[in-house]
Amino acid sequence: MNNNIERLLASGKLRCPACSQTLQLRDSVHCEGCGRAFPLLTDIPVLMPDPDEFIGLWQNRLGNFVASQQRNIESNRRLIASPDTYPPLKERLERVTRARAANLETLLELMAPQRQLGPGRPPTEHTDALGSFMLIVYLLRDWGWDTGEVDILCDKVIEILPDDLDLESLLVLGAGACRDSFNLHKYYGCPFTVSVDIAPLMLLGARRIVSGGELNLYQIQPNNVRNAADNVSYWQLRAPGRPEGDFLYMLADAMHLPFAEGSFQVILTPFLIDAVGEDLREFAPRIGRLLQAGGYWVNYGAMSFRPGMNYTAEEVLDIVADSGFRILEHGFSTKPHLAPRESCQRTVYDCLYFSAVRE
Ligand SMILES: C[S@@+](CC[C@H](N)C(=O)[O-])C[C@H]1O[C@@H](n2cnc3c(N)ncnc32)[C@H](O)[C@@H]1O
Repeated sequence: MNNNIERLLASGKLRCPACSQTLQLRDSVHCEGCGRAFPLLTDIPVLMPDPDEFIGLWQNRLGNFVASQQRNIESNRRLIASPDTYPPLKERLERVTRARAANLETLLELMAPQRQLGPGRPPTEHTDALGSFMLIVYLLRDWGWDTGEVDILCDKVIEILPDDLDLESLLVLGAGACRDSFNLHKYYGCPFTVSVDIAPLMLLGARRIVSGGELNLYQIQPNNVRNAADNVSYWQLRAPGRPEGDFLYMLADAMHLPFAEGSFQVILTPFLIDAVGEDLREFAPRIGRLLQAGGYWVNYGAMSFRPGMNYTAEEVLDIVADSGFRILEHGFSTKPHLAPRESCQRTVYDCLYFSAVRE
């Protein structure tokens, strides 16, 4: 029945994120130690220490996103109906509005498993309305665009890992729409890869695409001033082939990972160490504990740390070395970030990469 969760449990690597005891599958995933129940989104487990809080937060984010899209659609419709609006602009607004409405319908269908989980415990303090939900662009980039953006990261990761690596197990933290996980899993013929993220949309989307299901989304660039046709483009998101072996997904927090110590041979943190919400001096030893002795940590990403934790590359490498790793390779790589051909604005990051072996 639940292939993804069954394969995760069969690996013997899973532990309760709250008490580190072993887990079992009943109607949900159940901890034999503390008795907590962890819900499933289809067959993707929500292995958060406080699943109710997590569900409440993401229902709130989804609700805010839907409301913002509906407001945008309504305001465009008013502009379209207004006699003052420049007629060619009306035509573009009509296309943009149709595309936005179609995306909303598609996303609501994709997110049905989350909506079925109930309200959870709604957040009591103000949370970001959109920030963590507006990740559609990651799905477009990973499974649609032909810009080669994803290859830059994967090529570098392959370059800085040992040439003779026989990859047995890979954990990707902050996997987003999971294309890096997919490419590396295929390249190495890895039998066991787990993609972890906190964003349900990312994993539900990736799961559908990788399993050969249909997911089509519009990319909306209302501010493309070069070419009106590029204001809206339609992407059929497809995976190039199916992964062999276990290619698995999990909603979990990189700061409370539900795995036994020494569970992985390689851990990749793509654009995560500055986003994770934890000081690198805590996070680096955490990675070390999850790796087998002699296992590898590979990092690639921007360094947009928050104030108080804004480390330089040299400081990052020192912290990693002080956390029980030997740095193998490191450097900077310049990478366009979520830059579609159809946009008139592009961001480019100088990304810090390193590979390090756990001693
Ligand atoms: C900047 S995005 C990078 C996504 C993807 N790795 C890529 O390179 O396109 C950061 C990702 O990390 C996830 N993330 C942030 N904090 C996390 C945490 N504490 N645990 C797991 N994932 C997290 C976000 O949901 C998002 O998908």
